[in-house]
Amino acid sequence: MRTVTLNNGTAVPVLGLGTWRMGERSSERAAEVKALTLGLELGIRLIDTAEMYGEGKAEEIVADAVAGRRDEIYIVSKVYPHNASRKGAIAACERSLKRLKTDRIDLYLLHWRGSHPLSETVEAFETLKKDGKIKSWGVSNLDADDMRELEGVPAGKDCMSDQVLYHLGSRGIEWALLPYCQKAKIMVMAYSPLGQGPILRLPALKIIADKHGCEPAAIALAWVLRQPGVIAIPKASNPDHLRANMKALDVVLDADDLAALDTAFPPPKRGSPLDMT
Ligand SMILES: NC(=O)c1ccc[n+]([C@@H]2O[C@H](COP(=O)([O-])OP(=O)(O)OC[C@H]3O[C@@H](n4cnc5c(N)ncnc54)[C@H](OP(=O)(O)O)[C@@H]3O)[C@@H](O)[C@H]2O)c1
Repeated sequence: MRTVTLNNGTAVPVLGLGTWRMGERSSERAAEVKALTLGLELGIRLIDTAEMYGEGKAEEIVADAVAGRRDEIYIVSKVYPHNASRKGAIAACERSLKRLKTDRIDLYLLHWRGSHPLSETVEAFETLKKDGKIKSWGVSNLDADDMRELEGVPAGKDCMSDQVLYHLGSRGIEWALLPYCQKAKIMVMAYSPLGQGPILRLPALKIIADKHGCEPAAIALAWVLRQPGVIAIPKASNPDHLRANMKALDVVLDADDLAALDTAFPPPKRGSPLDMT
């Protein structure tokens, strides 16, 4: 699998698995563990989760899925903004570690910006790093202005990633945030890279998918992954979806494909607030 290299030298696989909405119904638990396990069997080595997902239950599902192969898997989790104080973030991380049945989280993110000062959250993250409980830290849903502010707080430059909404139907980050992160070598993790589904039914994608002999989802993911320094974390519970998404790694979009996608899903013409839905 291709990788993006973080500022600390760690190579991170470009395609991972999301877990939002997992852990919400106990009747689905076994199927959700199975979906993640199948993803790992197909070659995925990164799982994205959060203390918020299923109020901790998604992290427990991740623990079951990675049991016996923890060292092979790059685990990303996130702290709620209301827990992101100097002490609160440390306690939240320890709870996540217990649910994940592991001794460290590979990348720990502030889920979105809340009322605790960034400097406090970063201090907690640096303590967690020093204690070996996280390998590195980052943020999520921070726009370019927030990222500039973060850069100015003590140890703020140790931010490894910003996880933000990015898909064909939502290209706002291309205006300022993406160039900022690419220049600073801060990895962008594209969440909802399939636009949660509806964009996949648009004819422009279907035509290009037929040309490449794959599903529209593989084109949508290959399009996100064409950007240097960007990885994608689609969520797929359906085994056919998982297999279809893996094909994204083999697709190389040519200039005609990119031009057709720009026509169907135009790039931004001006700056706008960061999209989160
Ligand atoms: N940091 C944040 O604030 C934030 C916010 C949102 C999401 N995230 C993370 O990003 C992950 C992905 O985002 P997301 O779950 O919002 O949306 P997404 O990955 O864009 O879309 C997921 C939806 O697409 C479907 N799907 C997957 N593969 C498909 C395929 N090949 N063909 C057709 N449909 C397909 C899935 O169905 P099935 O499940 O039935 O396969 C699911 O309904 C989340 O799970 C979470 O880990 C982070």
